[in-house]
Amino acid sequence: MTSDSTAASALRPRRVLIDCDPGIDDALALIYLAGLHAQGDIELLGVTTTAGNTSTAQTALNATWVLEQCGFSDEHIPVAAGVEVPLEVELVTTPETHGATGLGYATASGVSPGGEWRELWERALAGGEVDLIITGPCTNLATWLREGHEFADFASVTVMGGAVLYPGNTTPTAEWNFWVDPHAADEVFRAATPGHRITLCPLNVTEQMLIGPGEAEQLIDALGDVPIAATLPEILRFYWEFHRSVGVGYTAQIHDLLTCMIALDQVKYSAYPASLRVEADSELTRGTTLAFRGEQLGGEPTVRVLERADVTSAKKRFYETAAFLD
Ligand code: RIB
Ligand code: CA
Repeated sequence: MTSDSTAASALRPRRVLIDCDPGIDDALALIYLAGLHAQGDIELLGVTTTAGNTSTAQTALNATWVLEQCGFSDEHIPVAAGVEVPLEVELVTTPETHGATGLGYATASGVSPGGEWRELWERALAGGEVDLIITGPCTNLATWLREGHEFADFASVTVMGGAVLYPGNTTPTAEWNFWVDPHAADEVFRAATPGHRITLCPLNVTEQMLIGPGEAEQLIDALGDVPIAATLPEILRFYWEFHRSVGVGYTAQIHDLLTCMIALDQVKYSAYPASLRVEADSELTRGTTLAFRGEQLGGEPTVRVLERADVTSAKKRFYETAAFLD
């Protein structure tokens, strides 16, 4: 690559796909990405969805509705439902965490998207480099790999999931996304090689990204007349009540929003190299993430694991970016 093309590519907006399971914190991540898209900082090429917080059909409807409430119809930013169930295990969803339809006390209206997720990914990749962000179970990417595609198709892959030597939020050792589809997570990280740019954002750091009623007010002020602002209180109230019920307090851990900021280098962070495996076959330890440092697995580390992030600046960036939607 010549220096001119390097400089030019550095100036061009990054081309982004998000694969998510909205889900309340996924919804905030979509608001953030829509804001970056409106600002011209990224080109949000599309949104694909998985089952996890709720069914794949519902996550697709939710994603479409959130983007519409931010001013972007399916023509602007295509949405497509992905694979309906985990690779091997039965689908389990979590209405107790994200509400009956995945958006807390709110309910998306409108029409479900009709696109096909593989075609959406192929169209995006045909146009140049793509950064893939995954904030739900890894079912779609694992299916993409099983069908003979390559990790190298993507310039970078950033995954929200796992808990590394840290308490899980689903079992004592497992984080929700990796517990819902442990085979997908394990197959994705087994396919990783040192040449790929893959980053894991585990609970160890994402649980520090908290947005409570005070921060929500700043967000709603920043959004101004953007329609989503009117529904955010009912979406977030459910999440605050859930976090209070599990002892976190009347606030909400916004895992997926921080993951998007890390993926797009929007905040300062540090990460360490490791190779990852996810336990998939034992019921007791299902979804547990094992990070092997150095050459413990007999080869160079293949993933960067997020270790620290500046969550204070992350929140400030979120409000500034959301303001671009108004
Ligand atoms: O464990 C946190 C993850 O599970 C987040 O992606 C949240 O949306 C839920 O899917
Ligand atoms: Ca999610």
